[in-house]
Amino acid sequence: MHPDEWNEARAVCVGAFDEPGIDTLLDTLRSSWGWADELAFVAELEGEVVGLVVFTPSFIDTPDRVVQVLVLSPLGVRRDLQNQGIGDALVRGALAELERTRSEPAIFLEGIPTYYPRFGFRRGVDCGFRQASDRVPDEGFMVYLMPSYEPSVRGALAYADAFWRADAVGLRE
Ligand SMILES: CC(C)(COP(=O)(O)OP(=O)(O)OC[C@H]1O[C@@H](n2cnc3c(N)ncnc32)[C@H](O)[C@@H]1OP(=O)(O)O)[C@@H](O)C(=O)NCCC(=O)NCCS
Repeated sequence: MHPDEWNEARAVCVGAFDEPGIDTLLDTLRSSWGWADELAFVAELEGEVVGLVVFTPSFIDTPDRVVQVLVLSPLGVRRDLQNQGIGDALVRGALAELERTRSEPAIFLEGIPTYYPRFGFRRGVDCGFRQASDRVPDEGFMVYLMPSYEPSVRGALAYADAFWRADAVGLRE
């Protein structure tokens, strides 16, 4: 994402969700230590930003070391353009770029269990990972294994502090 696109991308993403708090999450992520413009990807249509997906460095607490990974959140497509393949193209493009440029062994997310497997995400618990909170259902806790992944990378996900400060981990009652 080019920094000039931020306001438009933020508005599109906030407007995509029914639930509140995406504005707080985006602002907290953007002002956090892990933010990098090259880890935020936008979808464009006729010169307008129509989608945003953000990746943030976080950690896996493995038995013998702490390993940096990425967390995908949030992902939003402009409300009036949803279900037309924009999210699909955005996520596929971002994953291809990250595979080319990043050394993290895995990308995690909490999300719609029926949407993300098409990109290669699988259940985190099936790959030896544990959620950071009891409020994350097993089905929604997903991982994408990057080219540098090897099986010694296993353990609990520790989200970057921005996710906690924005209260964006797990489903609240
Ligand atoms: C989820 C989202 C990013 C998908 O992007 P999109 O451009 O609308 O979707 P695509 O055209 O790429 O893919 C369409 C598929 O997504 C599915 N989908 C879209 N929104 C969904 C939802 N809320 N729950 C379940 N599936 C959903 C559609 O059913 C469709 O499935 P199919 O291909 O099996 O028929 C977009 O709908 C969105 O911004 N939603 C609101 C915010 C949100 O929920 N973000 C993700 C949080 S995990």
